[in-house]
Amino acid sequence: MSVSRVALYPGSFDPLTMGHVDIINRGSALFDKIIVAVLRNVEKKPMFTVEERLEMIEESFRKLDNVEADSFSGLLVDYAAQREATTIVRGIRAISDFEYEFQMALMNRRLAPKIETVFMMPAEEYSYVSSRLVKEVANLGGDIAGLVPKRVETRLYERVRE
Ligand code: PNS
Repeated sequence: MSVSRVALYPGSFDPLTMGHVDIINRGSALFDKIIVAVLRNVEKKPMFTVEERLEMIEESFRKLDNVEADSFSGLLVDYAAQREATTIVRGIRAISDFEYEFQMALMNRRLAPKIETVFMMPAEEYSYVSSRLVKEVANLGGDIAGLVPKRVETRLYERVRE
């Protein structure tokens, strides 16, 4: 009997960075399917709408059949149950990420004991890359080539100019 292993990779992805891309590629090799799940968060003021963020993810993973982009609101574990995902994937770049990630993983385990959180490390060249810093650098006219996919870079500069 073959059991399909579905993983969720949740986040804000405002916007997708090469660090995210690296984790998604690794996840895609480990799981039967990886759903990149963009949080619909009414509190945050994002640079890109959820639809724009989904488009950027889809554009970047057209060639990988087992990567899907979707959005969710409410509790992550409820969305995971709805999508029959057994694993939550989160990227850890440095020890500074760990405390928040550890708290989230244990809270999610308390809420849904059968869902396992798996931490993955991006390639070391992306260990300092974050959506927040990429936006800040682009806003201030700095070079972000190679830190985000090409299409994301173009859209970022367009947004900054608007
Ligand atoms: O990219 P981010 O902003 O670090 O992602 C955070 C995210 C989306 C994974 C987290 O905020 C989340 O899961 N939110 C959904 C609401 C929820 O389930 N909260 C309880 C988590 S312990």
